[in-house]
Amino acid sequence: MSPDLLGALNAQGYFETSNPAWQSVLGWTEAELASMSIFELLHPDDREHTRAGFELTLVGQPAIRFENRYRCKVGGYRWISWVGIYEDGFVYCTGRDVTAERAKEIELASAQEALRQSQKMEAIGHLTGGIAHDFNNLLTAIIGSLSMVRRRMAAKRPEDIQKFMDAASSAALRAAALTHRLLAFARRQPLDSKPNDINRLIAGMEELLRRTLGERIEMQLRLAADLWTALADANQLENAVLNLVINARDAMPAGGRLTIETANVQLDAGYSSKNDGVEAGDYVLVSVSDTGVGMKPEVAAKAIEPFFTTKQVGEGTGLGLSMTYGFAKQSRGHLQIDSEVGSGTTVKVYLPRALQEAVIQGTAAGEAPRGQGETLLVVEDDTTVRLIISEVLKELGYRVLVAADARDAIPMLKSDCQIDLMISDAVLPHIDGRKLAEIARAARPELRILFVTGYAEHAFNRGDFLDAGIEILTKPFALETLGYRVRMLIER
Ligand SMILES: Nc1ncnc2c1ncn2[C@@H]1O[C@H](COP(=O)(O)OP(=O)(O)OP(=O)(O)O)[C@@H](O)[C@H]1O
Ligand SMILES: [Mg+2]
Repeated sequence: MSPDLLGALNAQGYFETSNPAWQSVLGWTEAELASMSIFELLHPDDREHTRAGFELTLVGQPAIRFENRYRCKVGGYRWISWVGIYEDGFVYCTGRDVTAERAKEIELASAQEALRQSQKMEAIGHLTGGIAHDFNNLLTAIIGSLSMVRRRMAAKRPEDIQKFMDAASSAALRAAALTHRLLAFARRQPLDSKPNDINRLIAGMEELLRRTLGERIEMQLRLAADLWTALADANQLENAVLNLVINARDAMPAGGRLTIETANVQLDAGYSSKNDGVEAGDYVLVSVSDTGVGMKPEVAAKAIEPFFTTKQVGEGTGLGLSMTYGFAKQSRGHLQIDSEVGSGTTVKVYLPRALQEAVIQGTAAGEAPRGQGETLLVVEDDTTVRLIISEVLKELGYRVLVAADARDAIPMLKSDCQIDLMISDAVLPHIDGRKLAEIARAARPELRILFVTGYAEHAFNRGDFLDAGIEILTKPFALETLGYRVRMLIER
């Protein structure tokens, strides 16, 4: 009478007894069933895991809701969910036909997938539109300025050439900042993560932050004593904090209080299961709180989307929080927003704890230090970038060898010519920078390497090379910075 499949399966995989439900569900009579091993009846893709499950059942581990597909006599397969228990040489089985449920699940999953896809397309549309708009403005300024320079030169009127050059540079720098923010959001910015003392970093920004906030906002730093070292890219973290502080300032037009707090935090498995993707463990928390207008739940939900802004055109691009979020995630940390309309907002950035001591990083200031005739190998596939890098380095007093890709560079690395430092693009055709570095280090274990990169396909991260003597410089860069970084690496 049972609508479920019942039967006793022997250790060889044959149903010695079975009930009439087999015929109504799958079409097999008791005699037909007894003549075939279940492995002949199973869908080929289910044979392997069923065999493994069967072995376990035979040694006394019951199969509970074990699902696989059985062939029907008229063709096709049906999903059956099994319970099987071993006793006295037989596995006693009950199987329920779950084909309809399975089909519904698949339908639901595909509907969800379609929805995700359409949301994704909408987000991409939004993103592309935003980028195109901002870039076109910047390009208009650059193209316009360059053509004005050309006209003034043709007319032999050099007086205001400087002005147009400055306008072009400033638009180009803004374009660079924009791509940087996009990459930060996309978690594709090259990160130079190192053990950092976050308290020191924030204390170093205090003056800048006070100036940003103005008179009407009171700023309070609550920096934890004995703060752990955090693994993060110092420059990007400064950007992130600055973004959060600017958001807080904008949320307090009539003044208020801003608090920056640091703390050691342990995130447990409970937190990590509620906040997808964060690993449980030790983190350094940087939180920025304001007593501003707060966000409505629907604003808070969208705040980290790129180009989402509630600000007037020209006042916000809507990238601040999205890049901060991307930065936190790419650093293997986390970002959390707590906000209440009327009482204020707290944004928490969690950064993974580093087990090493903090490193103290210098920054480029003023003129780049000069070289002393050292030989640098520049590997860069973009002709213009290669030309500019090598010209600058020559001007600074280095000897420069150039290669367009790894295939050009490898013979030089394997030869016995002097090379004090290799400057390599991280993304190169054929053999990428990372691989080239390996080959270079195999030939010259002491070689110092400076990677230059504008995009990190696999989240190119300094943490991946724990080797000393390998550093990353992010494109686009000021020529002084290049000179400074080269000198620091050579003198190390
Ligand atoms: N501290 C805050 N208080 C209230 N609302 C905030 C706060 N921070 C962000 N928001 C809301 O989230 C939106 C998105 O913030 P986000 O920093 O990404 O972009 P933006 O500040 O508008 O522009 P951008 O940072 O690119 O100049 C803001 O427009 C604002 O509505
Ligand atoms: Mg902002």
